[in-house]
Amino acid sequence: MNPKIRWGILSTGSIADSFVRGLRFCPDAEITAVGSRTAAAADRFGARHGIPRRHPSYEALAADPNVDIVYIGTPHNLHCPNTLMCLEAGKPVLCEKPFALNAGQAERMIAAARSRRLFLMEAMWMRFIPAIRELRRLLADGVIGDVRMLEADFGFPAPFDPHGRLFDPALGGGALLDLGIYPISLAFWLFGPPSRVESLAVLGRTGVDEKSAALFGYENGRLAVLHFTLAADAPSGAVVMGTHGRIHVHPPIYRPERLSLVLKNLSGPASKPRPDWLRRLGRLSLPAPLRKAAAGHRDRPLAFPIRGNGYNYEAQEVMRCLRDGRLESADIPLDETLDIMRTLDRVRAPWGLKYPGEA
Ligand SMILES: NC(=O)c1ccc[n+]([C@@H]2O[C@H](COP(=O)([O-])OP(=O)(O)OC[C@H]3O[C@@H](n4cnc5c(N)ncnc54)[C@H](OP(=O)(O)O)[C@@H]3O)[C@@H](O)[C@H]2O)c1
Repeated sequence: MNPKIRWGILSTGSIADSFVRGLRFCPDAEITAVGSRTAAAADRFGARHGIPRRHPSYEALAADPNVDIVYIGTPHNLHCPNTLMCLEAGKPVLCEKPFALNAGQAERMIAAARSRRLFLMEAMWMRFIPAIRELRRLLADGVIGDVRMLEADFGFPAPFDPHGRLFDPALGGGALLDLGIYPISLAFWLFGPPSRVESLAVLGRTGVDEKSAALFGYENGRLAVLHFTLAADAPSGAVVMGTHGRIHVHPPIYRPERLSLVLKNLSGPASKPRPDWLRRLGRLSLPAPLRKAAAGHRDRPLAFPIRGNGYNYEAQEVMRCLRDGRLESADIPLDETLDIMRTLDRVRAPWGLKYPGEA
């Protein structure tokens, strides 16, 4: 492999644009090629980002010997066919979220990567954001005691376009696949796979879920309350609740930079947690600002700044895996991606929502 990892960008839409800007923060990445459905779009995108090789089809990009890995940024319904095509051409793939329309598609994608011994990863960039990684560490350290509940959401009022990818059922439209994937992936990151799934949705003008909610129950008694919408201005954050306090994940949920730790006053004056709890916290290897916050200042946000635009973290993980010869990331393993897709299927099953051509 070359000293730099050579990326090929499949599609020229808005996320492809952001991802390429993220790659610019990775010194070991080189963007060698872009492929589009049209030569004109490939040329425009290539010129804008200084990408030398511009292909008039996705197939030509996948066949380019100057590409080590393909990033796929097409609408949800194309993730499966585009990924299969790249894998068949011998290229490792980083595929945008949601990984596929359903679990059946995800199974085929994963089987194709494994049988060819090629790297494949769901581009769930949230998992590589510093605050989200710190959150899991804090919970594992017992900072808020026994963790019992998660509340998470993502939503905004999207301008209605029946032919746009957010509302068109043929493109996998609806809040669940586009936005719900974040709170759901966060629930998996913190609590693992749920044993029980309940849900409710309001299907809108094009038949996709414009407002939806899911409740996950876990074998260990934990509960996750999750909601997503294309119809309202939602907080788009999360709260993890434990026996000794809670941690707020400040919005936006997909790239937070601040966490607030709120410790419950178990006895004594309002601002002071119980001494034995403070002693326990003192034994943990907490960063200094967090220790100070835990020692009595309520609701003080802790900053975990993002360096770059956020997409660089997932890109770095992909390149670490490729250099180490790993076929998947330990932080978003393919079996977990598949479990998430199965859970998305379970969430929408009671709604009767089907995406045309989702076989
Ligand atoms: N990780 C994130 O933060 C994030 C953020 C936004 C979106 N996404 C994901 O990225 C994917 C694309 O979202 P986007 O917002 O970038 O969409 P977009 O702006 O509409 O771009 C999608 C691109 O896909 C290609 N495409 C192929 N067939 C298409 C079709 N039938 N209709 C429209 N475009 C088609 C087009 O590129 P060519 O014309 O060059 O072929 C188009 O520019 C979605 O799956 C979404 O969930 C992820």
